[in-house]
Amino acid sequence: MGRLDGKVAVVTGAASGIGAASARRVAAEGAHTVVADLDLDGAQAVTKEIRAAGGSATAVEVDLGDVDSVRAMVAAAADTYGGLDVLHNNAAATRLAAHRDLAVAEADPAVWDDTMRINLRGTMVAIQAAVPHMIARGGGSVINTSSGSGLSGDLRNPAYGASKAALINLTQYVATQYGKQGVRCNAIAPGFIVTPASAGSAHGAIREAMLRHHLTPRLGRPEDVAAAVVFLACDESAFITGHTLRVDGGLLSHQPYVADLRDA
Ligand SMILES: NC(=O)c1ccc[n+]([C@@H]2O[C@H](COP(=O)([O-])OP(=O)(O)OC[C@H]3O[C@@H](n4cnc5c(N)ncnc54)[C@H](O)[C@@H]3O)[C@@H](O)[C@H]2O)c1
Repeated sequence: MGRLDGKVAVVTGAASGIGAASARRVAAEGAHTVVADLDLDGAQAVTKEIRAAGGSATAVEVDLGDVDSVRAMVAAAADTYGGLDVLHNNAAATRLAAHRDLAVAEADPAVWDDTMRINLRGTMVAIQAAVPHMIARGGGSVINTSSGSGLSGDLRNPAYGASKAALINLTQYVATQYGKQGVRCNAIAPGFIVTPASAGSAHGAIREAMLRHHLTPRLGRPEDVAAAVVFLACDESAFITGHTLRVDGGLLSHQPYVADLRDA
């Protein structure tokens, strides 16, 4: 028996990386899974894989930057499967972050607007659309993908980091406002997870630097985050809400000089 048998789950950004791993895992745990992404071909490929493995899934095209599109995604999930229990807000404008989100002195306000519209407003609209369906079923679980970038400074992508910090606070607001109606809301803050979005940094000197500062012997995998998603989605976490769970191999758990002392 799966930990999410009979539940209905929506995973955004599910065509790639962490979202694809989350969709595969929640489906493997028995949830009817809506695989939502801007990249419909990619979402359909993940859906096909899930079905081939015996799971239940539907692909839906969504643009997190477009309010109507986000509302249509939630409506499609509820129409197809009769309700909604789990929403994993995973999609983010990762390409924008990688290529156009410059240091503050050079920042383009239009990039900040796009980043906030997709990462933050898109997540809020998805929650707004999903919560009434969850309340109608006696409750549900919302999981927002934040980031270590939302918990600390970095040399790059400040708009991305600020949007991810805001998601941590939005998580607490949603937990506060709908907790008594059975809706839990938690965030996951992944550290360095090897996915298509981070692949450019997953080798050579950057990889070695990342590894030195992890407490684990390896870097993160999408499946590490997917395991946390299932835990936060299912009843085993029934008394956990408003929390941010770091899934980062201890990257932010220690004094900044630990790696230097270890090598001294
Ligand atoms: N990989 C990491 O190291 C890492 C670390 C911390 C946080 N995260 C977060 O995890 C999540 C997934 O990251 P990933 O590494 O798997 O990224 P990824 O780039 O592999 O996947 C992101 C997915 O989101 C989709 N997407 C982009 N814009 C969209 C939009 N407007 N509407 C709908 N879908 C859209 C893309 O098509 C893609 O399938 C993101 O929220 C990211 O910020 C990743």
